[in-house]
Amino acid sequence: MSGRFATQAAIDPPRFLVALSDKNRTFRVAGAAEHLAVHILDRSQLSLAELFGSHTGDDTDKFAQCGWSDGPHGLPILDDAAAWFTGAIVGRVDLGDHVGFLLDPDRGELRSDMSDPVMFDDVRDLDPGHGA
Ligand SMILES: Cc1cc2nc3c(=O)[nH]c(=O)nc-3n(C[C@H](O)[C@H](O)[C@H](O)COP(=O)(O)O)c2cc1C
Repeated sequence: MSGRFATQAAIDPPRFLVALSDKNRTFRVAGAAEHLAVHILDRSQLSLAELFGSHTGDDTDKFAQCGWSDGPHGLPILDDAAAWFTGAIVGRVDLGDHVGFLLDPDRGELRSDMSDPVMFDDVRDLDPGHGA
């Protein structure tokens, strides 16, 4: 998850909110999607945060530069992510220059103990691939 605007949004039923900038290719792809995948990284995977946060799919085939496999709903799941989940998009909320995608998480995997997760300070100096 290179996203900074992402949070659990409800407990029962569980919901997760991902805010995508309307400038990003990810936003355009998500517009036609029924499901999204969210990846969680730990500090040993900062290169993935750099790849996905600092490059846009408009210029770079990011998935050609990392390992991934087919996951639920045909979504690409990154081989090296510490954890991931997929979810159905059950709502879209206009947030201004971002749109909130409300997810109903359905499948996922925790591959590490997440004792050393990527925090915002680790990535705050990355240059986004697309302007905000
Ligand atoms: C630390 C960091 C956090 C970011 N958080 C978000 C976010 O929450 N939502 C978003 O839409 N873009 C966010 N971005 C920007 C995109 O990751 C970036 O513009 C990326 O290059 C877009 O790629 P795309 O055009 O392939 O979607 C963030 C970038 C960085 C460096």
